[in-house]
Amino acid sequence: PPLDSMVGLPDFDWAARRKLNASSYTYYRNGAAGEWSYRNNLEVFQRFRLRPRVMVDILKIEESLPTTILGHQFSAPFFIAPCARAGYAHEDGELNFVKGAGEEDILYMPSLFSSKSFDDIYAARVSGNSTSGNSSTQALFQQVYLTDDMNETRELFQKIEKAGSKAIILTVDSAADGNRHRAARFGVGSADSSYSLLTWDMYHQLSNMTSLPIIPKGIQTVDDARLAVKNGAKAIYLSNHGGRQLDTTPSSLEVALEIYEEDPEIFKQVEVFADGGVRYGADVLKLLALGVKAVGVGRPFMYSNAYGVDGVKKVIKMLKHEVAIDAANLGVADLKEIGPQYVNWKSVNAW
Ligand code: FNR
Repeated sequence: PPLDSMVGLPDFDWAARRKLNASSYTYYRNGAAGEWSYRNNLEVFQRFRLRPRVMVDILKIEESLPTTILGHQFSAPFFIAPCARAGYAHEDGELNFVKGAGEEDILYMPSLFSSKSFDDIYAARVSGNSTSGNSSTQALFQQVYLTDDMNETRELFQKIEKAGSKAIILTVDSAADGNRHRAARFGVGSADSSYSLLTWDMYHQLSNMTSLPIIPKGIQTVDDARLAVKNGAKAIYLSNHGGRQLDTTPSSLEVALEIYEEDPEIFKQVEVFADGGVRYGADVLKLLALGVKAVGVGRPFMYSNAYGVDGVKKVIKMLKHEVAIDAANLGVADLKEIGPQYVNWKSVNAW
């Protein structure tokens, strides 16, 4: 299907199913076990109804999309989540994400398990942005997985800092490989069965290895959110890894709600990022309403890469547009002023 026939993010799933070979598509689409978390990530958004306000002057809504993430200026409060193996969809792999994000001036978090080399990814950064007039070199936040070898980790952190990454995203929800049936049938994805023991003690050692903020990705309870704050994290990243690690884990919207209800100060103490199942403008708005600073999108970008950098940019433009028109219809004059009062947080089962 031609790129200009795509009207929303979910269309790229449908298109990728046709354009990619079965094993590549399956690697992207896969969730763990019965895929309950994968589906819940998508479905949870419809269980919380919006509370639109009317007769509000919303004419400046588009101008309020730009935001800062850990002090870096971006044109929208959403980013490209770290996803491995972009090369399955396009020969230029992650370079399309760097370029697309750079030209549209949004944040990209490259995965450690990228198809393109680390050096090629950092060399592709865009400097001087046309959208925002941002003149500095494109900011990237590098995602990492760790091995048990602390020397190896030290070298990795030095390489990341030297390359100019602005933060380290430390994935903490992958103590073991996810139990992914779909991908296993095609023999794609990781196949080893090692365990990694990552603890808050180690987090301190890691923090001493770099001046970059280390952001734990995969926080799934208010308890761990509190521990992350206590252990000095500058930001936390709520995620169940797109439902790919442990099945029946909560979506980030449910975790954000738990934090909001039990310890709302956390949203003021650190920046909170969240991802999983975000496909529409209103999904972004519900997360922002709870106090989330920036929202990650994974699979739609992986699928859009089947169209190269134009596909990636199309997703960014579509989501910017949807965030703006949905905020307008919600009666939000300025995106910075969205709050929990715009959503009915009493969950309902279905329409
Ligand atoms: C991921 N994700 C991921 N996360 C991470 O920390 N490191 C990684 O290398 C990967 N790799 C990866 C590959 C693929 C194909 C997918 C789909 C996902 C998880 C990712 O960062 C994010 O949490 C989810 O993708 C968000 O959910 P949605 O937007 O895909 O529903």
